[in-house]
Amino acid sequence: MSKNIFSRFYCNRVCVVIGGLALILIMILFFDTYFFSSEKIPSLPDDPLYKDPQASVEDRVTDLMSYMTLDEKIGQMALVENKSVVVEDVRKYALGAILSGSGSNPEQNSFEGWRSMVQGFTSSSHESRLGIPILYGVDAIHGHGNVLGATLFPHAIGLGASGNESLVYELAEATGEELISTGVTWSYSPTLDMPEDVRWGRTYESFSDDPVLVGRLGAAYIQGVQVANEHGTSKVLATAKHFLGAGGMQWNTSSNKNFSIDQGATPVDETKLRNTYLLPFKDALDADVHTVMVGLNSWGETKLAAEHYLLTDLLKGELGFEGFVVSDWYGVYEIPGGEYRAAVTAIRAGVDMVMLPFDYKSFIGNVHRAVQQGEIPMERIDDAVRRILRVKFAMGLFDATSTPPLSDEDLFEHKTLARQAVRESLVLLKNSEGLLPLDRSASSTIRVTGSAANNVGIQAGAWTVAWQGVDGNWIPKATTILQGLQEVAGPNVTFEFSEDGTYEEGNPVIDVGIAVVGEKPYAEGWGDNPYPTLSEVDIRAIENLKKVCVRVIVILVTGRPLLISDAIDDWDTVVVTWLPGSEGAGVADVLYGVQPFTGSLPLPWPAHIGQLPVVGGKTKDGTPPLFPRYFGLR
Ligand code: BGC
Repeated sequence: MSKNIFSRFYCNRVCVVIGGLALILIMILFFDTYFFSSEKIPSLPDDPLYKDPQASVEDRVTDLMSYMTLDEKIGQMALVENKSVVVEDVRKYALGAILSGSGSNPEQNSFEGWRSMVQGFTSSSHESRLGIPILYGVDAIHGHGNVLGATLFPHAIGLGASGNESLVYELAEATGEELISTGVTWSYSPTLDMPEDVRWGRTYESFSDDPVLVGRLGAAYIQGVQVANEHGTSKVLATAKHFLGAGGMQWNTSSNKNFSIDQGATPVDETKLRNTYLLPFKDALDADVHTVMVGLNSWGETKLAAEHYLLTDLLKGELGFEGFVVSDWYGVYEIPGGEYRAAVTAIRAGVDMVMLPFDYKSFIGNVHRAVQQGEIPMERIDDAVRRILRVKFAMGLFDATSTPPLSDEDLFEHKTLARQAVRESLVLLKNSEGLLPLDRSASSTIRVTGSAANNVGIQAGAWTVAWQGVDGNWIPKATTILQGLQEVAGPNVTFEFSEDGTYEEGNPVIDVGIAVVGEKPYAEGWGDNPYPTLSEVDIRAIENLKKVCVRVIVILVTGRPLLISDAIDDWDTVVVTWLPGSEGAGVADVLYGVQPFTGSLPLPWPAHIGQLPVVGGKTKDGTPPLFPRYFGLR
């Protein structure tokens, strides 16, 4: 009995001691894994080599990496969205980059407001243990479009219509100047996708479906954005996106239940991938692009972020890309298997920086664990971090002095350039009455109608202040197409405007009417459209206009070719402006013959839905498109 009592007592004490020890051990392991690196924090000399601007980039990277802990390295691999991070955590976790997703703007949305917001994040990175500066990224896909008052250039499809690489170079340089004046150092542009199916909601983000044109303009854009400033450092980092096969997805293959083709599957074989989709990326590499963004599409069954062969063997190995590969928005977590497995797969496949874009703490924990468990080799982490730091050093981030705010003269120059870009991007599809150019020397009245005639939001398209764009005329320093007509035509011409085409009854029928009609803004998969054509409202406006005008000019403000075969015969003249941006007067310049039409279609214009997709200029059903690629009257 007493033995029993003793042994229970004894046993209880032993159990408590063993349990306690086990608990302590678990806690040590837990804290070790999640809060402290098992490595010692390397000590830092007073004057480390990596801070010496005279030392070579590779030496600086090697030196800096020798002081970094594993978690500091993983921090560099994280790209986090502005609204998901507290400023202080940039310092604490040594985060590599912050982005403003489109529309993620400071409360005071102005150049000044942006400058101080970005400065807050950048200063926090300077205060980190090793002082590694962040990259700050935005989608400047048609200028610094989030900022109220910035120059809104035509979207890429319009630049494709211009076919003018020196123009593209200059406007990319101007975009870089607007970005850097707010402290933004990274732009997620240019887009090198090639749309084969105009039902895709991202058609307008692309220059063309012709790999040669895309490569030529993409390279010019990269060189323009990355041009060296007077400090000898690059202004802004460009991004070649979306690698690879974006634009070749099939309708109804999207992995996103809200979309039809965006984020879908590109079914092509490797030969087609190499002979078409890869070509502009080769041009981008030749133009010294430092970052490549992985698409949200799949190649066959595999999401691009998991494509070891394309990212590592082809891009980094065969093509010798030495910059870093960044994943797209939440793209890594689109890989099946949960967040841990997805991060492991993507990093092993060759993704260097992960656009999370939300939870960085669990990302750091997961990758730390994966390294400790040998699922991600340390050499892969070191390779990714070396690539990221190499780019940061090469673009002068460590040695940069702050750039002064943009002057009014600079802004004025950019707007003049944007107006020129609008002029060159217009395409004349039909001019049967020889109606254009219009005459402003004699007194006349012109009736104007349509949803896009007097609306900056519509003519600017999406990625303007908000992701899906805006409606109306409250964007400062912008000119609508109607305002541009009034400005360019001068005092001899009176414009009567009615958005729906109803004018005062009893007025006589006049000679000329202009209908400015088109698409409402949309971005990404939200713009996937099974039948892209004019809205009922715009069709009615044109019908109304025809009742009170003898001859009608239709101006299409659109991000893609619209299905208009059944209507075009009723229109006398047809002009495509694409999405011209803030400088509506550029449209009037060409209508009034200040400058002739020089633009041509950057992609074929389908006649009917059965022709989609149009691959390499050939329609699916073999019938001729309404207009072939490069069509444009002079
Ligand atoms: C788009 C990218 C863009 C990123 C960051 C994604 O949804 O696919 O093109 O760069 O968002 O805004």
